[in-house]
Amino acid sequence: MPRVLIADPLDANGIEILTKAGLEVDNRPGLKGDDLKSALRAADAVIARSQTKITAELLEEPGKLRAIARAGVGVDTIDVPAATRKGIVVMNTPGGNTVSAAEHTIALMMSLARRVPAADAVMKKGGWDRNKFVGTEVTGKTLGVIGLGRIGREVAKRAIGLEMKVVGYDPFVTPEKAAELGIKGVTSVEAMLPLVDFLTIHVPLTNETKSLLGAAELAKMKKTARVLNVARGGIIDEQALADALAAGTIAGAGIDVFSVEPTTADNPLLKAPNIVLTPHLGASTVEAQENVALEAAHLIADFLNKGIVANA
Ligand code: MLT
Repeated sequence: MPRVLIADPLDANGIEILTKAGLEVDNRPGLKGDDLKSALRAADAVIARSQTKITAELLEEPGKLRAIARAGVGVDTIDVPAATRKGIVVMNTPGGNTVSAAEHTIALMMSLARRVPAADAVMKKGGWDRNKFVGTEVTGKTLGVIGLGRIGREVAKRAIGLEMKVVGYDPFVTPEKAAELGIKGVTSVEAMLPLVDFLTIHVPLTNETKSLLGAAELAKMKKTARVLNVARGGIIDEQALADALAAGTIAGAGIDVFSVEPTTADNPLLKAPNIVLTPHLGASTVEAQENVALEAAHLIADFLNKGIVANA
């Protein structure tokens, strides 16, 4: 019976699909080091989210491992060239998290605009300060969206519903297509920066997008602008953002993803002012977790039982 390792927590419905497909499930999320290595070697396939990084070192002697499915968007937590060298197929579930990631982006934007977490923290300490927490409306404000893929478009749709103006940048989306979506297309990130009141990023982390927003880019934005990242840590330079928040050259930030996860005490964003932080919760809804678990389980069952490769 082929064995599937579950390396990060997976919704029970996904486990059921695997079992019903006649696969043995080794459900041990959170394994590390040698334990993870030997569990991988003993498995025919593995399903992981973001926490478990499938590195070249882990894949050096992969045993009978033939497939990796990421219950999430993209494959940036997996060393794909190393897997390919060993003949291991890498698949992902690009659609299941879209709505949840978009809704979390809007949640962070509204939290920032109305200072909800800060006001909540003061009240829970016995305080009552209505003057300190004067916020800003989002209606009529401009949201910049970098990356008009699935999630970027859903964020834009929701922002338009909130009566915001949306400008978007995506090298693969023409201004005509953007206009069809109600978005004003711009030809570069630089052109967008001075225009926006809120900026959100929805691109994968690659060599090109690493530190896409650094000190020079943040300096081009309005002092009243607020920045959101529910995509991947490292796309915004964390030290540059912390410095800009401390200097008041950026008004606020809502950040869900970090260059090192879980965050360590030396992450400069933990002590920055006017920032709302969440621990990589973009995809953490009941609905998204069920979607990606079902999708990943079907991918693996189809691969192991029928040799079908999809979303590779
Ligand atoms: C994703 O890539 O879809 C998410 O970041 C996955 C996760 O929450 O682990």
